[in-house]
Formats: sequence, structure tokens, C-alpha cells
Amino acid sequence: MKTFLTSDPIEAAEFIRSGGIVAFPTETVFGLGANAFDDGAVKKIFTAKGRPSDNPLIVHVVSTDQINEIVTVLSDHAKVFMEIFFPGPLTIVAASSGKISPIAAAGLDTVAFRMPAGKLAQELIKAAGAPLVAPSANVSGRPSPTTWQAVLEDMDGKIDCVLKGEPTTIGLESTVIDCTGSVPVMLRAGAISLEELRKAVSETVDGTGSANVRPKSPGTKHRHYSPRAMVKFIEDGDVEENIARSAYIGMLHPKGNYEKVKIVGSVEEYARELFEFFRECDRSGVEVIYCQSVSNVGVGAALMDRIRRASE
Ligand code: TXA
Ligand code: MG
Repeated sequence: MKTFLTSDPIEAAEFIRSGGIVAFPTETVFGLGANAFDDGAVKKIFTAKGRPSDNPLIVHVVSTDQINEIVTVLSDHAKVFMEIFFPGPLTIVAASSGKISPIAAAGLDTVAFRMPAGKLAQELIKAAGAPLVAPSANVSGRPSPTTWQAVLEDMDGKIDCVLKGEPTTIGLESTVIDCTGSVPVMLRAGAISLEELRKAVSETVDGTGSANVRPKSPGTKHRHYSPRAMVKFIEDGDVEENIARSAYIGMLHPKGNYEKVKIVGSVEEYARELFEFFRECDRSGVEVIYCQSVSNVGVGAALMDRIRRASE
């Protein structure tokens, strides 16, 4: 298959309308989209990514009409979150109307949806005329792509089209919040922090650390976000032995002797740069990537989560 490149969302939407799959930028990471109601197209996403069939997809919408079509009821908590965070990097889990493709739902009776803030994403969904299911546009297990070139690295020849755009501004995936119960439960840490969620709904529970609980967000149990290189945490950039092909990313200047060093000025910049740095290290054959630990506040929690998973 030849993968078509374009900067025009209208042109990209034509591929969706004819049952194809299209990678596109959102404010978090690039997604790989298909019409949420089209079983055949949804199946192509799972094939292109090599994604386990028990891992459901997020539905991307541009309007409340589209939300009302895919859910049955929305809890008051869900409405509060939507009011504050839509459009933006928050994914809400609610009771499903059963209208989206059962392949995308992976057998669940709930649906996860979000309204992306990126203009190109919004224009693509509008022109496609339907909500789009879209996982991150990487091969399963690899770091999520934050540039269209990284999408091509994984997906060239496997998907119909790439809608090009600027590198993504956030660089980590959306926060997933389950609003089906009596209190909201955060299932995946992401761009919107637990603190921000609790400012909106103070009862919000952190469900991400409960390893003994059956994972409600199935994707969080799979291996994720990993470069080929080994990933390790480091406190201050000081390595004892000098490992030949090693790299470092963090806010502090390291003392060790690394082949590749990336200094970031803030936790936000760290989040934005992490996945692309992983890929850059793989391109140049680095064997160990040391990542400075940061505190678990704000987007730092999601950042630490992604590095921890990459290091497992
Ligand atoms: O920022 C993002 O969320 C990006 C962009 C493209 O929107 N998308 C993304 O999708 O990260 P993906 O497929 O890589 O991750 C989706 C996560 C998985 O952990 C999946 O298990 C969870 O959302 N999920 C999807 N539907 C769910 C549901 N009904 N209940 C609980 N978790 C669900
Ligand atoms: Mg993903």
C-alpha cells in the first residue's frame, strides 16, 4: 500500500469516508483514525498497529451531538469534566449506546471519548462526517509518535494517509477518567493532572496504582512506550560506570559521559520531548537511556508513568 501524505484535512477525510485509515496530529500525540462505525476500517487499525484485540479504542468527537450518539447517559461528574476540559486532553469513559464498532469497543459496554483541541484534528473529524476511533499512531509497544515523520517510521506502507502537521504540543497521551461509577476514577495518568481533576471534582480517585485490581483500562496492562534501548531512571545524572552507548534526558546537567544528552527546561518540555528522544536514540543505536526522575506532581506523574513502563 502506498501511504499518501497531505497537509489538507479535507483531502485526508476522503480516505476515512472511503473506509481507509489516516494518521493525524492531536494536541497530545498523533492518532491513527478510522470511522468509529465502520468495522472494516477499525479492523485495519488493529492490523496496522499489531494491537491486541482486547484493547479498546478512544472515540474522537467534535460536537455534543456526536457524544450523545455514542453514550447512553452521562453522569453529572462527566458533565463537569466536559465543561472544564473539552476540547482538550481528557478522555471520559461512559456507558456506551452500542453504536460504535464492537471491534473498537473490544467487548466492553462502555465507551471512551474525547474532544481533541488541535485544529487539524477537529477539521478532519468534521470533514469525515463521523466520530473517529484513534489509538496512538505507533506500532503497538513503541513510543507514541509526536511528529509526522515518526508516524511514517512505524506506519509507511501500512496505512492509507498521513495528515501532516506541526509536532504535537503536549507529547504524552490524554488522561483517562472513568465516570461510570459513583465517584470518578482516573485510569491513566496523562496531560491533565490528578490535582486538576480534583479541583473540578474533589472525590476523584486515583485508580492507576491499584495493581491488584483488574485493570479497567485494558491498555494499561500491555507493554508500552518502549524504545529498543534499555530505559533506566537516574536521580541526578551521575552514572558510576561509563556505559559505552548511553544517553541522558533530564532537567539537571549530568556529570556522566553520555553519547547523547538532552537538557529540558521544564517538566512540560520533558513530556513534550520524551518520546521523540526515545526514537532518536533508537535511530542512532544508543543502548541505554537514562531518564532523570521528577516529582509526581502535575504532568510529572504521567511522565514518570511512561518512563516506568518503558523501563519494564
Ligand atoms: O491522547 C490520546 O489519548 C491519544 C490520542 C491519539 O488521542 N490516544 C491514545 O490512544 O493514547 P491509545 O489507544 O494509545 O490508548 C487508549 C487507552 C488505552 O489504555 C485503552 O485501554 C483505554 O484508553 N480505553 C479505551 N476505551 C476504554 C474503555 N471503554 N474503558 C476503559 N479504558 C478504555
Ligand atoms: Mg498508545
